[in-house]
Amino acid sequence: MKKKDFTRRRFIATVSAGSVAAAASNVVSPFGNITYFNRQSGKLAILGGDPVRKNKDWPKWPYVDEKMVDGIVKTTRSGIWCRIQSETGTVPTFEKEYASLMGTRGCVSTGSGTQALNTCVEALGIGPGDEVITSPLTDPGTISSILTSRALPVMADLDRESFQIDPDEIEKRITPNTKAIMPVLIGGQPCNMDRIMAIAAKHNLRVIEDAAQAHLGVYKGKKLGTIGDLGCFSFQASKTIACGEGGAVIGNNEELMDKCFTVQNHGTNHQGRTVVGGPKYRMNEFEAAILLGQLPGVKERFAIRNKNAAYLNSRLKDFPGLVPQKLYEGTESGSYYLYMTTYKKEHFDNAPRSKFLRALEAEGVSLSAYLPNGLHREPWTEHILNLKVYQKMYSPERLKQYRDELSCPNCDKAIDEIAMIWASGPLLGSEQDMDDIINAVMKVHENRDKLNSL
Ligand SMILES: Cc1ncc(COP(=O)(O)O)c(C=O)c1O
Repeated sequence: MKKKDFTRRRFIATVSAGSVAAAASNVVSPFGNITYFNRQSGKLAILGGDPVRKNKDWPKWPYVDEKMVDGIVKTTRSGIWCRIQSETGTVPTFEKEYASLMGTRGCVSTGSGTQALNTCVEALGIGPGDEVITSPLTDPGTISSILTSRALPVMADLDRESFQIDPDEIEKRITPNTKAIMPVLIGGQPCNMDRIMAIAAKHNLRVIEDAAQAHLGVYKGKKLGTIGDLGCFSFQASKTIACGEGGAVIGNNEELMDKCFTVQNHGTNHQGRTVVGGPKYRMNEFEAAILLGQLPGVKERFAIRNKNAAYLNSRLKDFPGLVPQKLYEGTESGSYYLYMTTYKKEHFDNAPRSKFLRALEAEGVSLSAYLPNGLHREPWTEHILNLKVYQKMYSPERLKQYRDELSCPNCDKAIDEIAMIWASGPLLGSEQDMDDIINAVMKVHENRDKLNSL
């Protein structure tokens, strides 16, 4: 959790007589399943009361240990800094270990998740004139990976409760130029992958899983990233497996994985022949040394996050004010890169989410709104519609239709309502840490009559 200086936000409260009475009477929650551990009701910290959580750190992220530091020193001293210097260096070793962890035949590492996604787009031969359907609720890297190949990212609206791309909306957006679906596994949870794979089969489309946030999650017995034709991961510093900046593609089709290798190696294949034009996206040996240091204990950390998420879900079960992300049938586990909920302001005296989040932060529990906009509402759409290459490759009718269909109302609602935890570190905490989260939410809820005047 981000620690902030709350003093600038603290101001003299104009506490009404009624709210003082409510705090003093220690109001009991009306929601059956919500019980208080270490009850800390009373005046909101933002109004000068005692915070629920004081002088306690959240588990730090990214994970670091001495062995990892030793690994970096060893790589530095070895002089093997680039993957082409050795077939047994840290990059090829990491690729083998990651493929084995994910249960795939192949893994190709890259310098970022965005590069991994673009490697797949290129390897599948997707380019100008082609369309890829994806989610608007994502990191800009998703969209960028399609734009880099001058293809058209078509955004389909979300299922509002899961924040995942809605398969019905995907089907509505398929045109004769659609070549692939790029489902974003937001928060590290599965999309409705059965439906997505069925749509892809019906329309002969490829599926590139944007599993950038979804390390080790499982849907119907399959690891996320192994369900589509190819799966992509990010190892950016905040991810549940991290090295600063890094990425990987995984897959079982050897021919396709060879193409991915060639793409990320400036078009030069395993045999050393430069066979296509391609970017240079190679991971370096220092990044892989850190990743190798992250792998021991990764399953244990994954299990702790899942246990804590299940505990939070159970504590929030009967509380309508904060509704955990809907999980599709068949979801066995998630990465819990994000712990996502919907903030229902009608249960907080209609107070805007920003006031709820500020009050919560003052209690020592930091939830965030995630993104300021769905990607369909960012200016890049107008930029590409005015680019010569897009005007040449797509008909004026198609571009007009594209502009007219840039609406994703469920995504817009989600953007206004998401309250989520950057969970890689915090969800490694103890049950007491999880209780602090719930206690802070409940304390703010009890004091909801004060939120609007903050
Ligand atoms: C869903 C999603 N897709 C793609 C990316 C891009 O990955 P990277 O930042 O490693 O390029 C991210 C990174 O946050 C992401 O969360």
